[in-house]
Amino acid sequence: MNPTIEKLAGLAEVTVAMRRVKALTEKARPRYHIETFGCQMNVHDSEKLAGMLEQMGYTGAKRAGEADLILMNTCCVREHAESRAFGHLGAFADNKRENPSLVVAVCGCMMQQKDVALRVKQRFPFVDIIFGTHNLHRFPLMLLRVLENRVRVFEVHGEAGGVVEGLPVRRRKGAKAFVTIMQGCTNFCTYCIVPHVRGPERSRDIDNILSEARGLAESGVKEITLLGQNVNAYGKDLMHGPGFAELLWGVAEIDGIERIRFMTCHPKDVSDALIEAMAGCEKVCRHIHLPVQSGSTAILRAMNRKYTKEDYLALAGRMKDAVPGLEITTDIIVGFPGETREDFDETLDLVRRAGFSAAFTFMYSPRKGTPAAKLADRVEKAVKKERLLELNALVAGMTARENEAYVGRTERVLVEGVRESDGERLCYGRTHASKTVCFTGGAAPGDIALVTVTHTRELSLHGKQAEV
Ligand code: 5AD
Ligand code: SF4
Repeated sequence: MNPTIEKLAGLAEVTVAMRRVKALTEKARPRYHIETFGCQMNVHDSEKLAGMLEQMGYTGAKRAGEADLILMNTCCVREHAESRAFGHLGAFADNKRENPSLVVAVCGCMMQQKDVALRVKQRFPFVDIIFGTHNLHRFPLMLLRVLENRVRVFEVHGEAGGVVEGLPVRRRKGAKAFVTIMQGCTNFCTYCIVPHVRGPERSRDIDNILSEARGLAESGVKEITLLGQNVNAYGKDLMHGPGFAELLWGVAEIDGIERIRFMTCHPKDVSDALIEAMAGCEKVCRHIHLPVQSGSTAILRAMNRKYTKEDYLALAGRMKDAVPGLEITTDIIVGFPGETREDFDETLDLVRRAGFSAAFTFMYSPRKGTPAAKLADRVEKAVKKERLLELNALVAGMTARENEAYVGRTERVLVEGVRESDGERLCYGRTHASKTVCFTGGAAPGDIALVTVTHTRELSLHGKQAEV
């Protein structure tokens, strides 16, 4: 069958299933609770699953104990995320004992690995539904089977299909929203499980992205974050499609959208056109998350990152020159197999020279099925820990110094929320570049407030709303 027709036929089936679940749940008004692990892509997938559940008559529950359906969306990027997921899952056994009609579902990247999914199936007999990342849109069909026949459903597809359009999305109300622009990753960094569980890069059609963004603007959204594992490769898999920079300019034309963010980027795919869009388009935020992973060219080669230490430093410098006020954040892995003290010193040196505003740091975690997991010459855990602490101390000092430079400046902050603390009304939000600021003032969520930064506290900025 033609893939488009196949997709449409599949979606029709899903729509019918949603209607049938809704008819079944009409009187009971069941509640759902979703636990999400991992990155923004997973957070957004959970928004889609919540959208489907609400269309099927479910309403949200804050705690697992109050829910008739618990869904866990898992991550497998590092071992730590996996063990946390296993821990949480174990706890749901009690919920099921108290409420035998409870439906427990597990999905996400961890389940996309067939052996792990099988382990969950065997070890946790109370889990009713297991599905991977490639068939998330089929969740209503699986739920219907459980509700009608009380069977266990196990659906992990080996092949990633095209991008499925038209699913309902339940977003948190507010000024910000995520929009997925592409799925998967084809870079195959040797440590990374993502290409194995999320499939190859598949870009969404630009018209679908723009119409989703227009709809969000109409509903009051002011800031859009374009999501993908490798957003700056957007369009490379389309025959004559536009590239990422054109997409940015396209979103910027939408009235009501005031800020555009995006993540994550790969340094090898940063084009001149992207730098021009960041420098020339007022709405594109002056922040780029640009994972470097290591400062050692030898380790970068072993990681299959396709750039050297010097390439990265030159790129960071070029971007900072072209985009005044640009903030660069990064990801760094310590203890990749074969990383010597000298290699690690190169990482420290790069961090000192690149001018990062912040860095997320990780100890290398071997992932089964990736090339790096087969490498000998593993770095001992104690050494990895030591290096992580040393790196974190350097990064914290740098971030604190960066933040200090903001004191006295007045920034435009998009207000994300308001809370009371010690009888004081505190607003919080982010600057154009992406610093989080907590401030006193009368602004409401969705406003862009002028805020004077008065002081920093550990790693955060604090201030007060300036008179307008
Ligand atoms: N071990 C440690 N960190 C990893 N990351 C990805 N895979 C691994 C791994 N096996 C980190 C990278 C990536 C971030 C999302 O997670 O730094 O950029
Ligand atoms: Fe993983 Fe590399 Fe793809 Fe990022 S670019 S998702 S680190 S393979």
